[in-house]
Amino acid sequence: MTEFDVAAAPAMLDIHGLVGGYGRIEVLHGVDLTIREGEIVTLIGANGAGKTTLLRAISGVQPVTGGLIAFEGEPIIAHPPHARVAAGIIQVPEGRQVFRPMSVEDNLRLGAYRRRKAPEADLERVYAMFPILREKRHLAAGGLSGGQQQMLAIGRAIMGDPRLLLLDEPSMGLAPIIVAQIFDVILKLKATGITIFLVEQNANAALAISDRAYVLETGRIALSGTGREIAANADVRKAYLGI
Ligand SMILES: Nc1ncnc2c1ncn2[C@@H]1O[C@H](COP(=O)(O)OP(=O)(O)OP(=O)(O)O)[C@@H](O)[C@H]1O
Ligand SMILES: [Mg+2]
Repeated sequence: MTEFDVAAAPAMLDIHGLVGGYGRIEVLHGVDLTIREGEIVTLIGANGAGKTTLLRAISGVQPVTGGLIAFEGEPIIAHPPHARVAAGIIQVPEGRQVFRPMSVEDNLRLGAYRRRKAPEADLERVYAMFPILREKRHLAAGGLSGGQQQMLAIGRAIMGDPRLLLLDEPSMGLAPIIVAQIFDVILKLKATGITIFLVEQNANAALAISDRAYVLETGRIALSGTGREIAANADVRKAYLGI
């Protein structure tokens, strides 16, 4: 993989001193993080470190109490979630959350609900990327395997025309061969120009496809670097890579 030229890319998402949590329990204690256009950036961290909370804060579904989030130079903390979706910030939630009784295709069409143009071209784009979803388009989403449901959840996000895609543990609970397919899909999405912020427990595989990475430790960024640097870091290897 060629190294991404980070210096040449403008910042797409800028986070400074972000503080947030649940009621009086503070979970994010001042997070600083930058994502540049075209990058895959991975966030790793232990259970309960605040990874999902951070993604939800970027999407706007998690209230924050301090700090700054700017998307393409514009502060967005006051913007409601739907405005962030319209701007191209789209999250694939932890645990996939497809609508199980609905058909695969109706699930995909839901992802386009904010868009004015007809979704047919995007449906075609999703089906070209995931031929199995085309095959099963009339079946209930609940009948899909875990891997297929994850592809559906990603497909639904693509229907919203993301500029910045937030992926919360897309490989969780999937068999190794399916995990490899998911990481392959993430690389393909990057190749279509989508910027990706990836939360993963499967740190080895995630760091291997990442331009840069951050390590979140109990609500603070403890470390950042290129994917290669983070994968080579002795503390990271011990704590997250089991090496
Ligand atoms: N709805 C909630 N109400 C109260 N506390 C919460 C809520 N959701 C999460 N927390 C707490 O906030 C902290 C961070 O949780 P979060 O889900 O962001 O962690 P995470 O890094 O995504 O963990 P995991 O790897 O398990 O997904 C944890 O201590 C968790 O118990
Ligand atoms: Mg989480």
